[in-house]
Amino acid sequence: MNSPDYEYLRKLLKERSGLDLSSDKQYLIESRLLPLARKAGLSGIPELVQKLQGGSSALITSVVEAMTTNETFFFRDKVPFDHFRDTIMPEVLKARAGRRSVRIWCAAGSTGQEPYSLAMTLKEMGAALTGWRVEIIATDLSQEVLEKAKAGVYSQFEVQRGLPIQHLVKYFKPNGETWQINPELRAMIQHRQLNLLQDFSHLGTFDVIFCRNVLIYFDQDTKINIFNRLARQIELDGFLVLGAAETVVGLTDTFRPIADRRGLYKPNDPRAAAAKLAAQGAAPPRMAAMAGQ
Ligand SMILES: C[S@@+](CC[C@H](N)C(=O)[O-])C[C@H]1O[C@@H](n2cnc3c(N)ncnc32)[C@H](O)[C@@H]1O
Repeated sequence: MNSPDYEYLRKLLKERSGLDLSSDKQYLIESRLLPLARKAGLSGIPELVQKLQGGSSALITSVVEAMTTNETFFFRDKVPFDHFRDTIMPEVLKARAGRRSVRIWCAAGSTGQEPYSLAMTLKEMGAALTGWRVEIIATDLSQEVLEKAKAGVYSQFEVQRGLPIQHLVKYFKPNGETWQINPELRAMIQHRQLNLLQDFSHLGTFDVIFCRNVLIYFDQDTKINIFNRLARQIELDGFLVLGAAETVVGLTDTFRPIADRRGLYKPNDPRAAAAKLAAQGAAPPRMAAMAGQ
């Protein structure tokens, strides 16, 4: 692939999905986009780039989706789901006992294994949630993965990755070679297309946000921008859960890590941060930065 074509694709992907490719990822682009170009009847990457430059929005969407990494599996990394059951939900149950409702956002939920793992964890809590209104919103940039998530149909291979056998028996029905998740669990989740680069304030405020294994693909400024906007969508006593290779440390003080709970973060109260700065005799620039990012 020639250099101008590569630079064009890098810039396009960065703008559209946040994907931050280093200068040596030509092989990745070729392996993902050559099949797409051929399927579209194009001779190769140069012709694909020409078409993209012509402004074909359907083709741009296909290119952006083809470059996303959708790797996921049930109860991925296990520990965050243990924290969800043992730390997050007990606190939420106490704090929201008055209104008996909980809102959970699974940002970048891919093909659904992550939000369904949360739904199964909640179901396993049994009577503790009786009479509660539970909302799980699962979003992703890619329409293709959302369709699969909505259908809730998984292959033998997929259900063998991370899903305890008792859960398979309890929550899935075999259907030929595949497994269909039970309708009650499907009904617990709303699936919506959403690009984290764009405004998400319309989703409202959440008690828990799982945002795992997506920010790793973004550059620092994009991560900071997303953290600062996530902070505005989370209750002050809510929880943010990140992937094993992700952290807020060194990027933003809108969240703080929870000791001994790897991957869990609490929002900092922006008013407290401003007060601390004021006490130090400084103008509160971070407050403005928090609001503006
Ligand atoms: C590696 S998967 C992670 C799935 C799941 N969170 C997990 O940890 O198993 C990353 C997901 O992020 C989605 N994604 C990539 N860029 C995105 C963006 N700008 N906005 C929303 N989702 C995005 C991809 O489509 C993909 O499904």
